[in-house]
Amino acid sequence: MAHIIDGKKISAEIRAEIAADVAKMKEGGKTPGLAVIIVGENPASKVYVRNKGKGCEEVGMYSEIIAMAEETTEAELLAKIAELNERCDIHGILVQLPLPKHINERAVIEAISPEKDVDAFAPVNIGEMMLGTAAFLPCTPAGIMELLKRSGISAEGKECVVIGRSNIVGKPIAQLLLTANGTVTICHSRTKNLAEVTRRADILVVAIGKADFVTGDMVKEGAVVIDVGMNRRADGKLTGDVDYATVEPKASAITPVPGGVGPMTITMLLRNTLTAAEKYGK
Ligand code: GUN
Repeated sequence: MAHIIDGKKISAEIRAEIAADVAKMKEGGKTPGLAVIIVGENPASKVYVRNKGKGCEEVGMYSEIIAMAEETTEAELLAKIAELNERCDIHGILVQLPLPKHINERAVIEAISPEKDVDAFAPVNIGEMMLGTAAFLPCTPAGIMELLKRSGISAEGKECVVIGRSNIVGKPIAQLLLTANGTVTICHSRTKNLAEVTRRADILVVAIGKADFVTGDMVKEGAVVIDVGMNRRADGKLTGDVDYATVEPKASAITPVPGGVGPMTITMLLRNTLTAAEKYGK
């Protein structure tokens, strides 16, 4: 039987720690503040943004949700970001992705002051992560590292295999596992003999966005399996990228979906906002 890594419980513990630090900071007269910009009417994005606001409230932070119309021009969005960059009560700025097609995402991300880039999506913050000197780490990969740490799992000397090479999860988690002294292999859609590679993994991170893709025969006995997937089945149920029924019996530890990696992402965003206020806030 695998140890079930309880992301909800670990997330609640970290949020309690953040809330205590926020309370202390408020006594000193400073309240961490997060601005979340959403452009357009994407229903999933609206849910994510609402949850980010609720997360701030839970830990005592200030938050401001800025909803802009689908027709907003890139110049208007850049002007809003410039205004938030100057505000002393806002320490973190997040622009919810995806953006409408007429807006250049890269230009928008780069317009956010790196000191307020709590998603850690800006090239300079990605570079700092590569060097091991980052103030903020991207939220989902940082959440995975916390889950491992708080479950007593070290990557040191381990065979770590990541399936997926996105800029938001695959590439950064590979980098963080490397920084933690793992031996890291990144697999993707062109990888040959995928199961042969995944069966080597002591720690397997799956972030490809294909429901129930990794099956028991692809996993070594005793592996730690981290499922970053979030897929909606035809019956409406959420499922990960890992076929839990066949993988769990072989794993030594596994994250469930929902309730594994998912709850950690916003928690790490809150922590990054706190860090921004501590490090750079006036
Ligand atoms: N859209 C999906 N995930 C994310 C995220 O982590 N940050 C932002 N800004 N947009 C997203």
